Amino acid sequence: MNLKKMVAYKVAEEIKDGQVVGLGTGSTARYFIERVGMRIQKEELDILAVPTSYQSLFLARDWEIPITSITQHDIDVAVDGADEVDKDLNLLKGGGAAHTKEKIIDYSASEFIVIIDDSKLTDKLERPVPVEVIPTSSRLVCEELNSMGAKVKIRMSDAKDGPLITDNGNFIIDADFGSIDDPSKLEYEINNIPGVLENGIFSRGVDRVIVGTKDGIMEL
Ligand code: A5P
Repeated sequence: MNLKKMVAYKVAEEIKDGQVVGLGTGSTARYFIERVGMRIQKEELDILAVPTSYQSLFLARDWEIPITSITQHDIDVAVDGADEVDKDLNLLKGGGAAHTKEKIIDYSASEFIVIIDDSKLTDKLERPVPVEVIPTSSRLVCEELNSMGAKVKIRMSDAKDGPLITDNGNFIIDADFGSIDDPSKLEYEINNIPGVLENGIFSRGVDRVIVGTKDGIMEL
């Protein structure tokens, strides 16, 4: 059973005519976009969508989903995946390097719905935190993250030699702090380093977490 598809399709059924919908990024969000696209074509669902990455923009275009941007519209509901979700509904995102735009859109939405399979659930966040940095600041940000106790790595590209470049033209530093006791404090402290654009800890704004499990769908 494809748990990501199951949960994404279920939430896509909740989208209503007239809504402005934030489209997340990643393999779970991809199924959500697909199902919304099918509903637009089959049921004439009437929405506007705001993509959180080039990946979701291209998918939306393939499905002929009408696109707008946050420069023009407020978002009614954002639906996005996550790499980890802890028991207090803090998220770790940015495995696909899209967390900066995801955070702008997800945090601003009237309702933020997270869709995951149950492999993403954890007691505490513990994966490395993706940190988007302006390239020229990367050495200094690495040093600062080190002094905060993290092991750091600049993320390399699979598609070219050298570092991965984000949709915004920046680098990603993956900062491994081990298990994170206070996600909200760490989210704030990392963003306080000069040169950091945004990090992948999402410690607020989550309204619902919908989880696909082998026994069906549950809501946290
Ligand atoms: C993109 O940078 C990420 O924040 C994704 O939203 C997150 O990695 C979830 O991805 P999957 O749905 O592919 O697991």
